[in-house]
Amino acid sequence: MLLLMFLILHLYLQVLVTASSSSSEEDGSSERDDGEHSKGSSHQHQWGYHDQERWLSAFEHCRGKSQSPINIDTRKVFYEPRLPAIQLEGYDLTGSPALTLFNNGHTLQLSLPSSMRIVTGFDHVYVAAQLHFHWGTTADPGSEHTVDKVHFPAEIHVVHYNSKYANLIEAASKADGLAVLGGFIGIGLHENDNYEKILSALKDISKEESNTEIPGFNVRHLLPNSLEGFYRYAGSLTTPPCFQTVSWTLFNDSIRVSRRQLAALEDSLKTEHNKLLSKNFRAPQLLHGRKVLTSFRTASTTGKAREAPRLETHGSGVMKTSGAKWHILAITFGVLFAVTLLVFSMYTYRQKKKYSKFKKDSKQNVIYKPAAKDTDPTSVTVT
Ligand SMILES: *[C@@H]1O[C@H](CO)[C@@H](O)[C@H](O)[C@H]1NC(C)=O
Ligand SMILES: [Zn+2]
Repeated sequence: MLLLMFLILHLYLQVLVTASSSSSEEDGSSERDDGEHSKGSSHQHQWGYHDQERWLSAFEHCRGKSQSPINIDTRKVFYEPRLPAIQLEGYDLTGSPALTLFNNGHTLQLSLPSSMRIVTGFDHVYVAAQLHFHWGTTADPGSEHTVDKVHFPAEIHVVHYNSKYANLIEAASKADGLAVLGGFIGIGLHENDNYEKILSALKDISKEESNTEIPGFNVRHLLPNSLEGFYRYAGSLTTPPCFQTVSWTLFNDSIRVSRRQLAALEDSLKTEHNKLLSKNFRAPQLLHGRKVLTSFRTASTTGKAREAPRLETHGSGVMKTSGAKWHILAITFGVLFAVTLLVFSMYTYRQKKKYSKFKKDSKQNVIYKPAAKDTDPTSVTVT
């Protein structure tokens, strides 16, 4: 009886060792991919939107508990009347100096002068650095944040850093380093003349890593008309290295561009290997107990909550994912049970085989697993 238990335990260990050695082989091959991608190119190409799972193993902060984007469940937000209003300064730029518009392979980015600031809304003044966009395809709307599980077609992020730090890179890793203003972009009946100032230049930067200059203009007009109603929560960069240093402000009022303009954003830019740059949005992340505050009374406090009937059938993303946790636990126990049965039947089948044979086999399966690569602090992209 004792021998039986010992053999079962040993086989368990062997199964575990085999499983971990095959997963370390996967790690190895993905690192080789990285090497090929970054050859003759910049650090930014070490990650992509098609394999967001891999961000978790390559960038430790991406595994944190305050990640972005999130789904905003409007039934679960907290009205906070003391949230100070957002006041912007210096957004009304003149034609010169010109602004640089850049296709960095992950997004369309406009660099902004440090004269642009958020002067009230936070404990410190926050200085603008750049703005950029996230989008999907005509069939697959690509905002990063969702409201009651619904994606908007696109999302604008205006990235600011705390004026107590010297620059964006220094601030990006500090707890109070960043404030990002986010706006949802939807489809309207009319052309949006302000967005056209950016979108009309896309044909000049279709190639990855290319840039162009556009005349300065009133950047305030890229944001929604009303900045009064917004959601606020503590989150992260939505791209590696996923630093959890962003105070997020997402405006309730949305921006409208024409169908043609949205298509221009979705269809103009190319990324590596001349592929279309689209679907550059990260999947919603778990809240892990974080609270989403609002500066305005929501529908749920005044009556019926917003509806999203088509998506409601799938449940909320947050619930779905924590439900998945239990699912994994159940499967794990199921597998353990099955393995026990298998092991027992294997034992009865191979009773005659000697213990030393098992030992020899298991040794051959042990493969050294190297420690995971860590974040390169010089390769911070903030998107
Ligand atoms: C928030 O947005 C919704 C949907 O666009 C709108 O109906 C509502 O009036 C807005 N509330 C505030 C306070 O801006
Ligand atoms: Zn972004």
